[in-house]
Amino acid sequence: MELPWNDPRTNKFATTIGLITSNGPHGSNIMSCEWTHHLSYNPGLIAVSVGPNKATVDNIRQSKEFGINLCAVDQSILSSIAGGYSGSSYDKIGALRELGFQFYHGTKINTLMVKGASLNIECNLFQETSFGDHIMFIGEVLDAINNPEKPSLIYHDGKYWSLNALVKPSKEEREQMREVLERYKK
Ligand SMILES: Cc1cc2nc3c(=O)[nH]c(=O)nc-3n(C[C@H](O)[C@H](O)[C@H](O)COP(=O)(O)O)c2cc1C
Repeated sequence: MELPWNDPRTNKFATTIGLITSNGPHGSNIMSCEWTHHLSYNPGLIAVSVGPNKATVDNIRQSKEFGINLCAVDQSILSSIAGGYSGSSYDKIGALRELGFQFYHGTKINTLMVKGASLNIECNLFQETSFGDHIMFIGEVLDAINNPEKPSLIYHDGKYWSLNALVKPSKEEREQMREVLERYKK
């Protein structure tokens, strides 16, 4: 069956937003990608699932590299512009610069990276594959810079959120859990 865009069931997932930067036939570009996932520790591999008609697809296919910049809580405007306009018709980077956002040149790839993101990852294209109606680009991590001051923005139910940590189970609860699990040990 289909699980369509904007369906309340689809919207139950909570994700970070990968701001995918690329450089190619459409020039320097940026798109929002909620389907950004860590696949492997060693080597570090990250997958991004991108619709086939996006300018980002042409850019990554030609350059064989891309940036993944996890959107920070104070960057929702960036996510809305990167996700609301296509690089085939708009110079989103130019517009974002005018709106006060800043970029820097990647050190390992010839692609702009987003200043002030919660995490900046430079990737080589490791593999391209297709699942259903999206193209999955798997990137091999060449460089990853954490910005500890900047929590990641969360996307859920078509809205932007920030994370609040919940209290972990108490010592007594953990003790009780351990005691029950011991009785179910195989
Ligand atoms: C919050 C948000 C998340 C998005 N996530 C994805 C995604 O995971 N995959 C995708 O193909 N498009 C996603 N989009 C839509 C693209 O970002 C949008 O189509 C964009 O214009 C593509 O840019 P491009 O044509 O310059 O590559 C998302 C949009 C928003 C606003």
